[in-house]
Amino acid sequence: MKKYPKNDLLIRAAKREPIERTPIWLMRQAGRYMPEYRELRQKAGNFKNFYKDPHLAVQATLLPYHLLGVDALIIFSDILTPLESIGMEFDFKEGEGPVFQNPIKDEKDIHNLKQFDTKDISYVGEIIKQTGKSIDYELPVIGFCGAPFTLAAYMIEGRTSRDFKKTKKFMYQNPTAFKNLLDKLSDMLIEYLNFQIDSGADAVQIFDSWAGYLTPDDYREFALAPIKKIITSIKRNYQPIIHFTKGVAGFFDEMITSGADVYSVDWMIDLKKVKQKLNTKASAQGNLDPIVLYASKETIKKEALKILQKWGKETGHIFNLGHGLMPDMSVENVKFLVDVVKQESIR
Ligand code: CP3
Repeated sequence: MKKYPKNDLLIRAAKREPIERTPIWLMRQAGRYMPEYRELRQKAGNFKNFYKDPHLAVQATLLPYHLLGVDALIIFSDILTPLESIGMEFDFKEGEGPVFQNPIKDEKDIHNLKQFDTKDISYVGEIIKQTGKSIDYELPVIGFCGAPFTLAAYMIEGRTSRDFKKTKKFMYQNPTAFKNLLDKLSDMLIEYLNFQIDSGADAVQIFDSWAGYLTPDDYREFALAPIKKIITSIKRNYQPIIHFTKGVAGFFDEMITSGADVYSVDWMIDLKKVKQKLNTKASAQGNLDPIVLYASKETIKKEALKILQKWGKETGHIFNLGHGLMPDMSVENVKFLVDVVKQESIR
């Protein structure tokens, strides 16, 4: 059986076991804000070649280990990665993000989706294996996936959207077909996450980036229900599940019934309230507003301390941002945040 990584702060915080200090990692911690990332990306030619090449992707995964000193490494990949296997074709367009060739239009398109096969994404397993090995299992390696609702939204919109009009229109016009799509995606994601854990992932995070656009009732039915199904179907021994939802303030009470070990929240909810509501039954991750990182070091420290103080000295908190780092951020400021959290959270 796989052993805990040497630095197991994240695993212990996720299980609410005693910790010497608060663990920290950052969403999008390997990205364009790093000159070393831009160099690797140039070598790859484009983003897709980059994440499909284990040699380059492992180097990207390791950048935050070398340059920031974080307590966990999220594998370098994307939430859209497994969708190619079921027949969805897309490209990442410069300055625009993902664009699908043939977005889902109707029931027939859902019916025609192919069976997911982990062989098509074997490179993700390679990246997990080689990352752990290359740091001699010093840090937890985090695997991840997009949540069914968020992936369905990309497949229907065909690109990032401002209001998710096509997705919600589809959902209200044909809820049965929409649920069928969510079911197919859930089945795929169960296999995908089990594959990542089998490959050596020490934790997995489910990203529900767009569920915040739903009403609380629709959130329960179309976003939360499929996630509950996924969480109960994941085979694991110690590996915690982290559940991230962007825009969760309106239905935090609902989200925390998903069965995850850790709830990752954005900055629009007070961490003190999060702690009260979790009431030692689960852990939390977050929730610094990433925009703080554009400010002075003094402000970064002040805002980081606020978050540490809101949680207090008990275990059960993993420091992170409320959403990902941005391409024009300063590596120096990001490193400063990591150092501050590591120093100031010592018990
Ligand atoms: O956190 C990490 O460092 C791990 C790697 C990771 C990426 N994307 C790398 C990436 C993870 C966990 C993701 C998840 C992801 N991808 C989400 C969920 C998290 C969130 O941000 O809400 C979403 C919605 C996507 C879809 C996606 N991928 C978009 C909208 C974009 C374009 C945005 C942009 O910054 O250009 C991507 C591309 C992408 N994914 C990049 C990276 C580093 C940029 C690629 C590049 O141009 O180099």
